[in-house]
Amino acid sequence: MLDITGFDLNAIDAAFIEDPYDTLAELRRNSPVHRNADGSVFLTRHDDCLATYRSRDMLSDKTEAFGKKFGECPLKVHHTTSLIFNDPPYHTVVRKLIAGAFTPRKLAVMERLIEGIVDRLLDHVEDLGELDLIADFGMMLPTEIISFMLGVPEEYRAKLRGYSVAILGALDPVVPPERMAAGNAAVEEFGAILSDLIDHRRANPDGAGEGEVLESLIFGEHDGRRLTQEELVQNCIFLLNAGHETTTSLVGNSIGLLLDHPDQHRRLLDKPELIKGMVEESLRMESPLQIGNRTAGEDIALPSGTVLPKGTYIHTSIAGANRDPEVFDQPDRFDIARSPNPQIAFITGIHVCLGATLARMEGRIALGRFVQRFPKLSQNGPRERLGLARFRGYTSLPIRVQ
Ligand code: HEM
Repeated sequence: MLDITGFDLNAIDAAFIEDPYDTLAELRRNSPVHRNADGSVFLTRHDDCLATYRSRDMLSDKTEAFGKKFGECPLKVHHTTSLIFNDPPYHTVVRKLIAGAFTPRKLAVMERLIEGIVDRLLDHVEDLGELDLIADFGMMLPTEIISFMLGVPEEYRAKLRGYSVAILGALDPVVPPERMAAGNAAVEEFGAILSDLIDHRRANPDGAGEGEVLESLIFGEHDGRRLTQEELVQNCIFLLNAGHETTTSLVGNSIGLLLDHPDQHRRLLDKPELIKGMVEESLRMESPLQIGNRTAGEDIALPSGTVLPKGTYIHTSIAGANRDPEVFDQPDRFDIARSPNPQIAFITGIHVCLGATLARMEGRIALGRFVQRFPKLSQNGPRERLGLARFRGYTSLPIRVQ
């Protein structure tokens, strides 16, 4: 049995990052509201995480925490301005404006776009025969989609994943100085590019393509308020990060799971209509975003009975919640037809992922078409993990498709 008495989320090692699930299971059983040395708590039960996300008394503002973590630097400006790390009323304004990009009409445009991009990418995959699933397929699709939404021209697209990983990497509980420096450089560089794009769109409002979100963010108003240039830049950087790394990981993690579970791969080949269930099960088994954070704005009683005093800093283990045996029968089993599957990879509550419908659509189209077109899929070399605790995915997954 694993000894979790000395476990501290702020001092996790490479072994936990490689495979956190046994430790999470032990925490869920014996220390579901686990206290870290800095006084914060780590929640691993589904009902505690759900209650945390649903509570109106839980705050997402991180000005104080990020002030301590980053000091005054571009990373602090970025993360404290993103809607994800803010509370109403600022959060409400930005969310309403960004939501304008995800209306059913815009999603229908997006669906056609995704189908076209996926088919083009799959032709390229077929030509390659042997490839890196992440570099040659997984990250290309979200890059194209987000670039389209933000109006990012072709010449910058190759850099987007580097920016995304550098900025998100700085959110890990333990951040070495070189990762911090890379994150700051990425915010500055991508921020400058976006600032120019915003100025250009402001001067040329009619040039926006159908489905572009930049235009609605610049000119949209909520309660008579428009976003400032800084708010625009930082929330566009956030959109890149929110929609990019997670979707790449959804694609990579799903193919990784199918390679590890040939019976489920066969099942999907035989019944293509199971693709939606496969996407949900992949999101549950290997949640691309594994850990969230909130601060208790009031004393909060958790379903498991513990009362968290006002001011407690909370880490929610989405990965732990998604393998809770109280909710999921045989939680470590990959079952693409699992039903019901109340996984919380997109969380719930006022910050529920705005891109969930888009992400599911990308996953369904990209993975569904990939699997059916290349039934002889096999692994072709060692996989490399992202190496982060908060985000779970691969940097490399070599495969052969014929
Ligand atoms: C598999 C892919 C994805 C996963 C697993 C995912 C997961 C999440 C999670 C867990 C949150 C809530 C974080 C928190 O408040 O603690 C979130 C928020 C968000 N996501 Fe996603 N996401 C994905 C894809 C996308 C895409 C494709 C977009 C848009 C292009 C997107 C846009 C957003 C936005 C705007 C928020 C902030 C919502 C708010 O704070 O009100 N996400 N996502």
